[in-house]
Amino acid sequence: MIEINNVSFSYDGKKVLDKVQLSLDEKHCYAIIGPNGGGKTTFLQLLMGFLTPESGSISINNKSPVEFRNSIGYVPQTPSFDKLFPLTVEQLVLMGALSELSPFGFWPKKVKEKAKKALETVGLIHKAKEPIGELSGGQIQRAYIARAIMNHPKILLLDEPTASLDPDVVKEMIALLKKLKNDMMILIVSHDLESVMNIADFVICVQNQVSLMDVHDVCHHFSLGVYHQLRGKK
Ligand SMILES: Nc1ncnc2c1ncn2[C@@H]1O[C@H](COP(=O)(O)OP(=O)(O)OP(=O)(O)O)[C@@H](O)[C@H]1O
Ligand SMILES: [Mg+2]
Repeated sequence: MIEINNVSFSYDGKKVLDKVQLSLDEKHCYAIIGPNGGGKTTFLQLLMGFLTPESGSISINNKSPVEFRNSIGYVPQTPSFDKLFPLTVEQLVLMGALSELSPFGFWPKKVKEKAKKALETVGLIHKAKEPIGELSGGQIQRAYIARAIMNHPKILLLDEPTASLDPDVVKEMIALLKKLKNDMMILIVSHDLESVMNIADFVICVQNQVSLMDVHDVCHHFSLGVYHQLRGKK
């Protein structure tokens, strides 16, 4: 599904990703881990074509990231918004289909239906008409997931969706992602290794260089911020 061939990327001459070589299968869920500033968010931005590799190439389903972008759902890291901004949960989700807004400012019925389905999937339909400022942290994340999945993406990218959530809310989030995993490829950035291990088949460790490993080869030192493979494994 995703072929990354010798990709390097720098910001202002400072190398963030160096010669990344990866082949990712649509049937699997990948956890992306690594230290702060290691390049995880940059990696996702490259997959969506918002950034361009300085060398190497990325192809997704034999298309460029820009060509494939419409089939990718994205939940950004700590989405920031003005809690007083008068936007309802339903309106936030509809923003996932902005290109379908009519010139007169109306949402076609089929688009509203898709937003409704997405809100049902994430368990937030009862909040559809409420202002987003009144949601809890976990509910806001669910609303952003609904926005990301309303167009039935082939790939869902989530950038630290469990950060600063209570353990019980994290569990609910993981259960939701397990459900979504049946319908789409999921790449999830997280520092909460223990939780994402419940859904991930593979782990991508991003710290300038990128390595792919089976979840069973992940060392528990990772949760202490020391990223290496289990001794004896290559
Ligand atoms: N727009 C930018 N301009 C310049 N440097 C940037 C930019 N965005 C990120 N960086 C730098 O690139 C490096 C990688 O950043 P990135 O956000 O990809 O890391 P990350 O692994 O997502 O970190 P975190 O875990 O803190 O979210 C960091 O050193 C960061 O300061
Ligand atoms: Mg990041």
